[in-house]
Parts: sequence; C-alpha cells; structure tokens
Amino acid sequence: MRFPTGGWLARWYHSGMKNIVALISGRGSNMQALVQAARAERWPAQVSAVISNEPQAAGLRWAQEQGIATAVVPHREFAQRTLFDQALLRAVEAAKPDLVVLAGFMRVLSGEFVNHFAGRLLNIHPSLLPSFKGLHTHARALQAGVKVHGATVHLVNAELDSGAVLAQAAVPVLPADTETSLAAAVLAAEHQLYPRVVGWVVRGELLLSAEGVRWADTAQVPPQSFWTDRMASATH
Ligand code: GRF
Repeated sequence: MRFPTGGWLARWYHSGMKNIVALISGRGSNMQALVQAARAERWPAQVSAVISNEPQAAGLRWAQEQGIATAVVPHREFAQRTLFDQALLRAVEAAKPDLVVLAGFMRVLSGEFVNHFAGRLLNIHPSLLPSFKGLHTHARALQAGVKVHGATVHLVNAELDSGAVLAQAAVPVLPADTETSLAAAVLAAEHQLYPRVVGWVVRGELLLSAEGVRWADTAQVPPQSFWTDRMASATH
C-alpha cells in the first residue's frame, strides 16, 4: 500500500485551519455533531460549508443559524445524474475542502465524483458493514434477527458502502426493538462515532489516501470500535 507524501495530505499538514465540507439531504444531525465537536474539541478544522441536494433539508437552516456557508444542488433539476454530479463536484470544490463528509447524503455518487475526492471522502452508514449495505438497514437487521447492529465510518470508493472501514459502533438489538427504536439507538451511536473518527483525521493521527487508511507513526492507536450499552433503557 502506498501513502503519497504530496497532494492533499501535504496540503492538510502544512497549512492552518482545514475545511470540512458536509453533504446532507435532511435532518443533518450527524453534521451538527461534527460542528459541535470541532468547536468543543478545538479541532484544527471547521465545517466550513454544508451542501444539500434537498432545498428543504432541515440541516441547512441549522447550519445557516450557525453562520456556516450553505449551498443547494437540487438533483431534481438535472436531466442526468452525471450532470448533477458535475454540479455537485463544482459546488464542493468551490468550498476548498480538505475533507468531504457524507452525513445522511441520500444520493449515490458517480465514479467521477468519488475518484475526484478519493482519499478525502468519508461516509457514515447505519449498519455494521459489510452487513446491510444500502437502504432500510434497521428494518433489515430486525428481519434478519441479528443481535448486534450498529454504524460504520468508511472511506467512500466507487462501490456503494464498500470502502475501507475506519471504525464501527456496535448497538445491541433488544427483543422489544422496533425499526424506530433501533434507528434512534444507532443514531445516538453515530453521533459519538463520526466526530471521534473525523477528530482522528483532522488531528493527523489517522492518515487517509486513495489507497486506504493507516495510523501515523506518532499516533496512540485508540480502539476503533465501541459498544453502546442500551441495557439501562431496556423495558424488560
Ligand atoms: C443516519 O442514520 C446516517 O447514517 C444515514 O442517514 C441518517 C442521517 O441522519 N446515512 P442525519 O441527517 O445525520 O440526522
């Protein structure tokens, strides 16, 4: 595996405050968790722009209230997916991102977009990948009868929900769980997991490249998984 010393990695480490660009489609609670962690933990990085494909995304309003730049690239107004992706790519590039985080972004991105941002494009997915790629993960986990579910932060590559796994949060499935209760438990775990992983990246501990992920030689390697204890709130 090669880890280039040039390109974006060099830009990341050799200049000041870095820009994180968040792509959302709706509520944006993961984006909010990142904004709050960046401030509370004084990251050498900030969420500098929030971009949505949905004009009505609630997360856009929240970002505006926080003084964060926002943009909308409305996918329905593009006749072809490639045209939407090209417009999105331009909007993201205009925000000069060092890191692009998908945070509840509900469009599948083209290979062109993914390749352009390779090694600086992360996603959070609400399952323990490689289980339950795609949509409706909580319903499918219940249907399958798994006793452990969770969330994954991974590098984005050209194949859906298949890039290198950076970290995972495990969430026990309780006998009384519904899709709603399980989704809420996983979302709470996501709000811990995504800031934790992005914090490693922006502090230069976890090094990303198009080829994969590795820890910096100087990093104290932390656990890359944790277990969410839900038993305290169990109803039986
Ligand atoms: C999260 O569960 C995320 O993993 C999934 O969509 C949901 C988005 O929630 N891709 P939010 O918009 O971050 O609140």
